[in-house]
Amino acid sequence: MNRRDFLITTSAATLFPRIALASAPMELVAQPVTAQILPEGEPATPMLGFNGGTPGPVLRARQGDAFDIRFLNQSGEGSAVHWHGLRIDNAMDGVPGMTQEVVEAGDGFEYRFRAPDAGTFWYHSHNRSWEQVAKGLYGPLIVEEPTPPDVDHDLIIMIDDWRMTEDGTLADGFENMHDQAHQGRLGNFARALVEPVTQVRRGDRLRLRLINVATDRIFPVELEGVEGKVVALDGMPLVTPQEMSGLILAPAQRADIIADVTSATSASFVFPTRDGPYLLGEIPVEGANTTRQPSEISVLTPNEIASPDMDNAVSLTLTMEGGAMSRRMMQGMMGGDIWAFNGQSGLTDTPLHSFERGKTARIRLVNDTRFPHGIHLHGHHFFEVGADGNLGALRDTTLVDADETRDIVCVFGNPGRWLLHCHMLGHQAAGMKTWVEVA
Ligand code: C2O
Ligand code: CU
Repeated sequence: MNRRDFLITTSAATLFPRIALASAPMELVAQPVTAQILPEGEPATPMLGFNGGTPGPVLRARQGDAFDIRFLNQSGEGSAVHWHGLRIDNAMDGVPGMTQEVVEAGDGFEYRFRAPDAGTFWYHSHNRSWEQVAKGLYGPLIVEEPTPPDVDHDLIIMIDDWRMTEDGTLADGFENMHDQAHQGRLGNFARALVEPVTQVRRGDRLRLRLINVATDRIFPVELEGVEGKVVALDGMPLVTPQEMSGLILAPAQRADIIADVTSATSASFVFPTRDGPYLLGEIPVEGANTTRQPSEISVLTPNEIASPDMDNAVSLTLTMEGGAMSRRMMQGMMGGDIWAFNGQSGLTDTPLHSFERGKTARIRLVNDTRFPHGIHLHGHHFFEVGADGNLGALRDTTLVDADETRDIVCVFGNPGRWLLHCHMLGHQAAGMKTWVEVA
């Protein structure tokens, strides 16, 4: 990354529009918007968004509540909305060509589902996502616990990067082959958008819902001015809260943090880079909370997940191949796909595997490439298997480093056709996707 290209601003107020309570029917309109990505005073950026802004509105409901969302596509291009991380009916998953037809410009689609899990999720376009997400078609989706933890502020922190030109437009070349063969489309400008825009007091307890909405960039994030614990990953509560240090968010990953404000001036989000720390955003601190008593950070109530049946588990291997410096690159040069799973690029008529409903699988993810990949499974959460062989955190997206092998364990309990793909969206665009069937 070229540090001079990076600019910093924390004026996120204009970017985050309103909050929508999703229990009543609501409209979600994809449309062209302008957003102030560059600092105030510099040109605004033509983008795509929902209901007048990017990110789109915060969709918020209680666990088990019904969402009834009337998606209207006025973006001028075909689209569809995927509810990332929600274990909902396959027909509502928002994947054109697999769970529904693409919603053509001018058309609509009604998404109705119940959110089974409480936690931090998000929604985004799943049509030409490498371009439409880069242009701003995404927003946060929050499902509240029946008894939310006792905090003074519940804040959403969406971390994104954009590749900007000097005149304030998004750089084009969304299918640039060099990007796709390397780490994807990395921005030259990054920011943590805080919603709602607010000021906090020293001593306040915060719940911070971090969401990496960047198409391709992995963000290590350091928090300064607060002390606390990571209490959930990808919307699923951790059995034992983790330290905040060393937090890494691959594209689409989330982390919930509960932390107390210790600074008298600001709580900030810092992206450590090779050239030094880069400030992603900050929350101003003023005054002190004198009434809150010091207390342990409590564990969130777990969501209900079927326990894996390891004795009868299916074993599968998913080998990631391709990218720059690989043999497959030659194919890319000749117009083929650059990335593959088990030698296969893109989707075919046959799934990677067809699971009997309720079946447990142990999937070995083998990264035989020079790049990290964030592997996302639709419609399910899975356990990451730790180095000790024990089941670790439940996730919907797992980061597998170059040359790393990682096992995941999943109970395939949700019937339908589910995508399994790299959430570095440039890699997905260049073939790194497959699907599984649960019948
Ligand atoms: Cu965040 Cu296939 O999706
Ligand atoms: Cu990838």
